Amino acid sequence: MKAEIDPDVVATLRGRSLLTTHDWTTAELDAALAVADRFQQLDRSGRPAALLPNELAYALFFDNSTRTKSAWAGAAARLGMQPVIVDGTSTQVSHGETAAETGAMLGMNAHALGVRHDLILGEGNVFMREIQRGIDDYLAATDDERCVPIVNLQCDVDHPTQTLADLLWLREHFGGDIAGKRIAVSWAYSPSYAKPLSVPQGLVSLLPRFGAHVTLAHPEGYDLLPDPLRWAHEGAVASGGTFTVTDDMDAAFEGADAVYPKSWGPQALMFERVAANQAHDIAALHDIEERALALNAKHRRWICDERRMALTDDALYLHCLPADIGDEVEPSVMDRFRTAVAEEANKKLYVIMALLAVAKVDDLADRLAAA
Ligand code: CP
Repeated sequence: MKAEIDPDVVATLRGRSLLTTHDWTTAELDAALAVADRFQQLDRSGRPAALLPNELAYALFFDNSTRTKSAWAGAAARLGMQPVIVDGTSTQVSHGETAAETGAMLGMNAHALGVRHDLILGEGNVFMREIQRGIDDYLAATDDERCVPIVNLQCDVDHPTQTLADLLWLREHFGGDIAGKRIAVSWAYSPSYAKPLSVPQGLVSLLPRFGAHVTLAHPEGYDLLPDPLRWAHEGAVASGGTFTVTDDMDAAFEGADAVYPKSWGPQALMFERVAANQAHDIAALHDIEERALALNAKHRRWICDERRMALTDDALYLHCLPADIGDEVEPSVMDRFRTAVAEEANKKLYVIMALLAVAKVDDLADRLAAA
């Protein structure tokens, strides 16, 4: 697949942060994906793309990560930037420094900022927007024309670098277009921890915009937030795709071209975390986690197994990883798709390169054409 880069649309992305895919138009997302595709071609053919030398790419992680941290570091290094990754809990945020104050302090030194803040519903995306306000206000007050874009590396609402990577991978698999493809985004049982809602929310708010027929399946009590569900319906109407919700995993898998079964936490308990977290009540947080896992355990049959894969139209299996093998997915299914999910994960590197470059590089389309 070789996507065309639209220089006019790419130019509109100069200076832009990505906090949810909903904030960007479909044409803007297409332009960023075309740039990501170009970075992938350059990287795979060994051609350098050090378009941002001597710049600092700082990332704050308030939650664990393997893939996204390494994609951030790999993207920054390939662009010639210096990546620095910091444990968010080691900042002064836990001592009361606000997000806007933290943003100002980081923005005075860094040239781009990635943030993961995904565990507490109602907090992560708000935190990122406050960080951005702090940076922008500081730069404006000091007449500093530097652009310091924020990249959402997963929040409570969305995981845009993941879902754009998923879309890039789906497009590559389906020959360039997902319009008309049937994609099941399903809850699956996990015994490990109550996972954020942001991946399924990001998927359902993104994929219907590109003409896919998306079915969301989950048991009662595992609803997603209202805004991403509304965006999913709006995106489907605008593109000619569809978006439906069911409580039947088999029905979602029937005839599917791609399946994305993964766990997330029960919404009511995820909201209970907010007060416990604000009170730093570790015992309450532990109790909520135990109750969430007990609720999950009522739905052990929600697994992506060979029987369900046989219901599909020879579907591609996707997962953002890490997967609970044996619980979310039968081991033999994961074994068949082990390389596929690794390739899916690798797309995030090129998506982050694209998000940094479209925000920061002048005449990017011309420079990529010449690279
Ligand atoms: N899928 C994903 O974001 O992986 P990490 O949590 O390891 O970054």
